[in-house]
Amino acid sequence: MTKERSRPSADPATKPDMAAILHGHRMRRNRRSPWSRSLVRETSLTVDDLIWPIFLMDGTKARQEILAMPGVWRLSVDQAVAEAGRAAKLGLKAIALFPYTDPARRDPMGSEALNSGNLVCSACRAIKSSVPEIGLITDVALDPYTSHGHDGLMSEAGEILNDATVEQLVLQALIQAEAGADVIAPSDMMDGRVGAIRQALDRAQFMEVQILAYTAKYASAFYGPFREAVGTARTLLGDKRTYQMDPANSDEALREAELDISEGADMIMVKPALPYLDIIYRLKQTFGMPTFAYQVSGESSMIEAASRNGWIDGEKAMIESLTAIKRAGADAIMTYFAPRAAELLARP
Ligand code: PBG
Repeated sequence: MTKERSRPSADPATKPDMAAILHGHRMRRNRRSPWSRSLVRETSLTVDDLIWPIFLMDGTKARQEILAMPGVWRLSVDQAVAEAGRAAKLGLKAIALFPYTDPARRDPMGSEALNSGNLVCSACRAIKSSVPEIGLITDVALDPYTSHGHDGLMSEAGEILNDATVEQLVLQALIQAEAGADVIAPSDMMDGRVGAIRQALDRAQFMEVQILAYTAKYASAFYGPFREAVGTARTLLGDKRTYQMDPANSDEALREAELDISEGADMIMVKPALPYLDIIYRLKQTFGMPTFAYQVSGESSMIEAASRNGWIDGEKAMIESLTAIKRAGADAIMTYFAPRAAELLARP
């Protein structure tokens, strides 16, 4: 250990008596060397923590970069199969599927959600047969299929109808389970949907299909780029504040979690992630459930944009943000960075 060279202090009266102040406590000791920092590190991010959300589009051999999500592509089903294979090789455990539905197939009811030949179901079947080892998570909500861009059915007065929507979501969940989805993830925030989906899955003998509930999903501006990706950015009528949570609330997330757990959720999720670390922490501490977090499109696009401008080190910011989400209590993280993070984490 090199001794600190003592700097001559201009005025001995102001020179601090460090021994008296520190009593031997020097926090920096543990931080001196890489090996020591490794030993005392509390949180480690690994490829086991990552879920990769993928966007689907019509066609074959088709890929389209999403303007508001540089580095993220919409993929035709064959390309999604190839990427699922790459993801499995990288050690990623699961992918989540989101469709860009041709606007011609969108209607007020979101009927395309119930077409067992839709993009998500086709991708499920194709990926299950070529890459059976990867977990398949499908999103239950109507927004990529409705002409008005809402997650639920709309009354003539423009209200989002809860119970009628739940009936539709149950059917959507069933066709996804039939197509081979391992985990059904309702992201719609209707009341009672977890219980209704659990009951329907069980009745149809899909007892083993898991439910990942978007438990605390906030009405967030950070979903902007995702809405471009699935094509609802321009068509969305109004906002989603009558069903998604108010960003100002935290206790309400506990009640949402209590209900989702009692209705049969296997995992609960908080979304977005980084602006809601306190919610992740509270849910994990209170319920001890498998608790996931979704690093949403706006969160990753901000990092990517700043990085592409040379304003921040993108790779470091990516790993730092994911580590922070895990430190708050997340067991797994949905992130568009998943394959890139997996590559980085695999480096010695
Ligand atoms: C909607 C849904 C949204 C996201 C996932 N599912 C957006 C919304 O509620 O409008 C956002 C994910 C992201 O921003 O990455 N069912």
